[in-house]
Formats: sequence, C-alpha cells, structure tokens
Amino acid sequence: MAKYKIPRGTYDILPSESYKWQYVQNTFRKVARLYNFKEIVTPIFESSDLFERSVGDSSDIVEKEMYKFNDKKGRTFALRPEGTASVVRSVVENNLDLDANSTKLYYMGPMFRYDRPQKGRYRQFYQYGVEYFGSDNALIDAQTIALADTFLRQLGLKNYKLEINSIGNATCAKDYDSALINFFEPHFNELCSDCQRRLEKNPKRVLDCKNKTCKSIAKEAPSMLDYLDEECSTHFENLQKYLTQMKIDFVVNPTIVRGLDYYTKTAFEFIDSNLGAQSTLIGGGRYDGLVKQIGGRDVAGIGFAGGFERLLLSLEAEDIKIPNNDKPDVYLVTLGEKAETISAELLMKLRADNISTEFHPDKKTMKAQMKAANRSDARFVILLGDNEIEQNKFNLKNMETGEQELVGFQEMVKIIFQ
Ligand code: HAM
Repeated sequence: MAKYKIPRGTYDILPSESYKWQYVQNTFRKVARLYNFKEIVTPIFESSDLFERSVGDSSDIVEKEMYKFNDKKGRTFALRPEGTASVVRSVVENNLDLDANSTKLYYMGPMFRYDRPQKGRYRQFYQYGVEYFGSDNALIDAQTIALADTFLRQLGLKNYKLEINSIGNATCAKDYDSALINFFEPHFNELCSDCQRRLEKNPKRVLDCKNKTCKSIAKEAPSMLDYLDEECSTHFENLQKYLTQMKIDFVVNPTIVRGLDYYTKTAFEFIDSNLGAQSTLIGGGRYDGLVKQIGGRDVAGIGFAGGFERLLLSLEAEDIKIPNNDKPDVYLVTLGEKAETISAELLMKLRADNISTEFHPDKKTMKAQMKAANRSDARFVILLGDNEIEQNKFNLKNMETGEQELVGFQEMVKIIFQ
C-alpha cells in the first residue's frame, strides 16, 4: 500500500493519458491563433482581495471555495479559482489596456476550488480560456463565442448546445433585482438557507440554485429579458443576428445568470447534457466594468473558460478517438557486444536526424528485446548484429507490415520518414 495518497479532488495525468491532454491543449492553441489571440501566463496565486473584489464576495467561489493562506509576512493570498481576475490584474498592471481593440489573450492552467468533488468537478482542475478587451461591439461577443464553438467542432464534438442570455447592465440589473425580490419574498420560508442569503445579497443567484424547491419556485420568476433597457436589448439582438449569420446554433435561456459577479450583458454556456450534473463545458460572458473596478481604464471585456476534464469526458462520451503520436519511431534491438557499443553512437545519430528512438539497456536476448519493442508501439525496429555491422547496413523492420529490408543509414532515415 502506498504510504501517501493524492489529495481528494485532484488527479495525476498518467503517461498513458498525457497524449490526450497534449492534443486538447495543442488544438486550443491552434484555434486561439486562428483568431489571433496571444498567450498570457499569470501566477497560480494572487492577493485574495483581487478575487473577492472581482469574482465577488456573494459568489460561492469567494464565500466557500477559495484556498486562502497567509504567507510568512502575514499577507493573504488565494490559489486562483479562475483566470479572468488574474488576467485583468495583469492587463491593468502592465498597461495592456492602453492597447484597446487589440488585447486578445488566452491562457491555460490549473485553477483551484474547494468544492465537493464529483464527475467533472475537481478541487484542482485545468482551465483554458480567452479574454478580449477594448470593444463593447456585439460582433466581438459573437467572435468570442465563435472561437469556443470552433474549438469544440475541431475536436469533433457535436452533442453540445450553446445557450445565451443577457443579464443587462448595472441599471437594468438593479430593476430586475427588485423584481426578483418582490417575486421571491412571499416564498422566503420555502427557499433553502443559501437562497435566503442570496436573496439579500444577489437575488439573481436564486435562479441558479440546484435545490428542487428553489428550482420549482424560480420557474415562475420574471425574466431578465423583460427588464433590459434599450442599449442592452439592442446589444442582445445584434449578438443573435451575428450568430445567425455565422450559422452558429443557439437557444436563448433567460435563466443563465453565471456564478460570478462581474458579468454584464451577454452570458453564455456550452452545455453537454451527456455529462450529468456538471454539464457546462464552457462558460463565459461580458464584464464591461471589471477593468475599471480593478484600477484600469474604462475598457470593455468579454471572455470564456472551460475545463479540460469535462472536455475529455465529452470526447469519451461521443466516442471520439484522440490520435496518439506519443510513440517512438524506432526501437533499436542489438545482438552482441559490438552492436551494443556501436548503439551509443547510432542512438545519437538517429536523434540528430529527428527520429524518436528507444532501446532496452538490460535485456540481451533478441526475444526479450522484440517483446519490449512491441510494447513500446514503435513503428520500426532496427536489428543490429555482427552481420549487419560487417556490411555497414541496418536491418529495418516495419512493425505494421512485418516487412524487413537491409539498408544503409541514409536509406533507412528516408524509409522511416516516408
Ligand atoms: P466558470 O463558469 O466558473 O467561469 O468556469 C468555467 C468552466 O470551468 C466551467 O464551465 C467548467 O468547464 C470549468 N470548471 C469550473 N469549476 C470546475 C471544477 N471544480 N472542476 C472542473 N471544471 C471546472 C469562469 O471561471 C470564468 N472565469 C469564465 C470567464 C472568462 N468569463 C469571462 N471570461
């Protein structure tokens, strides 16, 4: 029995699975590049105050889920629960907000939330995301959504749905909050204790509650869409117009409120109902006041993030095979002392020619080495014994076809690359 166990809600990416992670990460980079986004990398911990001010102290994340700690000088930090706040902090700190219209950033990395672990929900999870600063044009909302959609499509996923909503700006959100309070107050005693608190702090969050009773009461609640002012409803109509023009299917779901406090206007989610309770593949929205709130200029922002774990679960559910290129090109099998000595140089030469090569240092018999070669999934085996050395040739075996030929070094490299 192992003496140490991995912390609850975390996981190891084992070598047999890592090619899948590389594949989804590479695909995300590729798609981000298609839309001309540049990568940004921020630390995994920040001043906890940053998250309290941006994600919001009435959010579950800040209220219950942050990994907070004090350093040796008594400063309070938090492991980042999400990426947007850190990116906005960096944008403001490095004056990237002066470069309006061209600040298009993407990121990938571990995030941390102390929540009850379940399928698709972890305490350390790996997010990918984008943030787009400098324009409040609805075309940018549509572009951001299109990037997410392109990513899911490029992976081959089909069984997901895009749901969009508008949660208005500060003014219409206030009117809507009052309407919600009026609606829920007569049901106050039936609401769960979380929602009783939410009704006071952030009434919209009641719409997001998973509790059965709260859910059934919320069904009859007024819709945000009836409270949008002209600016917000025009923005929402424009977004729908662009999405339609881009042939991106969507449904309007007025109950999407998102769990973070910084959102304004557009909110959206990509849902895969195959995933069970944790069905949100990607969540995002606009946050026009956030940069200013964190001390920057008054620039608009929009973005999204998704968890790679749920993405991999969706790929599995749709039976999409991820190509595994994480195998050696060649396995070198040596017979005899001479061949073993020469192998040191040969391995260097093959790798200098960009050929990924493996061998076994301790197995001496041909049978044992061939077994290891099979297990490695190498495309070719090079057999090197006294005969081959004498002729200055190599016995190259194609492991797929079983074909074997005696060739010189240059010829061998050519065949491997074919
Ligand atoms: P979020 O909805 O909190 O938004 O998270 C986005 C996505 O991250 C979720 O849809 C899910 O795929 C994944 N995720 C969240 N929590 C977990 C968890 N505990 N385990 C596994 N996956 C998880 C945000 O984080 C915002 N920063 C998104 C955003 C960017 N909005 C604008 N820009």
